[in-house]
Amino acid sequence: MENFIAANPLREGLSTQQAPEPCALVIFGATGDLTHRKLVPALYNLAHEGQLPQSFAIVGFARRPKTHDQFRAELRDAVAQFSRFQPINPAVWDALAQAIFYHQSEFADAKGYKTLDEFLRKLDTERGTAGNRLFYLATSPTEFIGIIEQLGVNGLARMDRAHGSPPRIIVEKPFGRSLPTAQELNHKLANVFRERQVFRIDHYLGKETVQNIVALRFGNEIFEPIWNQKYIDHVQITVAESLGVEDRGGYYDKSGALRDMVQNHLMQLLTLVAMEPPTVLEGESIHDEKVKVLRALRPIAPDHAQQFTVRGQYARGSMAGKPVPGYREEKNVAPDSRTETFVALKLFIDNWRWAGVPFYLRHGKRLPKGVAEIAIQFKAPPAVLFAAESPVPLQPNVLVLRIQPDEGIAIRMNAKVPGNTVNLQPVKMDFRYGGSFGARSPEAYERLLHDVILGDSTLFTRRDEVERSWQIIDAIIDGWNASPAPFPYESGTWGPAEADEFIQRDGREWRRL
Ligand code: BG6
Repeated sequence: MENFIAANPLREGLSTQQAPEPCALVIFGATGDLTHRKLVPALYNLAHEGQLPQSFAIVGFARRPKTHDQFRAELRDAVAQFSRFQPINPAVWDALAQAIFYHQSEFADAKGYKTLDEFLRKLDTERGTAGNRLFYLATSPTEFIGIIEQLGVNGLARMDRAHGSPPRIIVEKPFGRSLPTAQELNHKLANVFRERQVFRIDHYLGKETVQNIVALRFGNEIFEPIWNQKYIDHVQITVAESLGVEDRGGYYDKSGALRDMVQNHLMQLLTLVAMEPPTVLEGESIHDEKVKVLRALRPIAPDHAQQFTVRGQYARGSMAGKPVPGYREEKNVAPDSRTETFVALKLFIDNWRWAGVPFYLRHGKRLPKGVAEIAIQFKAPPAVLFAAESPVPLQPNVLVLRIQPDEGIAIRMNAKVPGNTVNLQPVKMDFRYGGSFGARSPEAYERLLHDVILGDSTLFTRRDEVERSWQIIDAIIDGWNASPAPFPYESGTWGPAEADEFIQRDGREWRRL
């Protein structure tokens, strides 16, 4: 493993940071899908890389009765299936397994929190976790407020614990489902924790390629001078998924594409592309710049929703040659559901840098492939010099940041076709992470868990960011409530035809992915 770390500069951020302090991580909702698929495999990966504190403990808090050993055995299976390091390394697993414990309780039962407190104190003595606690809310969101209150009244959130640093709380998405519900959750959190103890997860911020947006923009001199309305025609942010709702119909039908993906992930991508350079590369400074973008984002008033947005819902179709059901036929989805599984938006940022530049956001499920990218499309060059000789109009330059898969950056430019005429054609310059750095990047949750352990909130969202984003989303949803149902689109296609017409009306095209 040492070789891998040394050979991969992507690891440097992790491997050169200060040694993490001892701590105990309590996961509420420890028997759920997130814990199995993401959290514990990420913790195992960190252990594999030697990135966990020397003294560490994981305490699973959940309702079902279970012994420590049963819990460990379940997690071992999960790690064997979902870790990026295969096969499982028995020495790494055994060491981690000794740090894993199970605590059974109802989420609303005060007694369960008292006994948790006692158990954590015992771990402080026996495993050296030093009074440092991290609480991870990985339950259904309906439990969040109850757990926060119980942590408060039972003294688990106290700042004055002997020796330990202030406890931290990690809140999974969805963070509310509207501005009022997000505000309520923030308010409850603020009753018990200070803002610097709160870590709101948006797992897109843990992705290497997303962090690289800031590196590309501000670590290179050539982009920033042209990163504005003088040179940029428009920006397209696409997050396409080939999967349907799978077994999450119950949640998704009350949420929809706009709340599930745009309010958080796509908005975060937009802020990173659009923000001004922060004074320092630290949490508060970056959050301040992101919030400025969100404040400058022109809300789509309800009666403009039709003009600035398109909604779609997948119908039957076929994926990789296999027939798939329509959204309304999915488990736990209402047969007459009006929930959108596709959304396209046109947004404007009313500030000096971005005045008049449309940001087109597009996200959908059951699209032909799973791919996420940001395309910065520059203005076309003046058609004077090459126009006469060129059989087709010159293509504008495009800078594409490929978030996933096939992570990388490409630039489209025009080059002369060899020969005796001045014929120009678009060519592509392509950088691939895999090719240049030779190794797979860490999973988003590895980076995020590691940062929580270190107490670094840069890659988490701040209260005002989340609330402003919901304000924009709520206005769109108000508009939708008064407009016709989403347009159906066949599964395996790029969304409803109306989405194409939407961008064509502006004389532009969606990028072909
Ligand atoms: C989650 C959404 O936040 O992100 C899911 O709830 C979605 O619906 C997922 O599938 C996509 O994440 P990724 O990392 O696979 O792009």
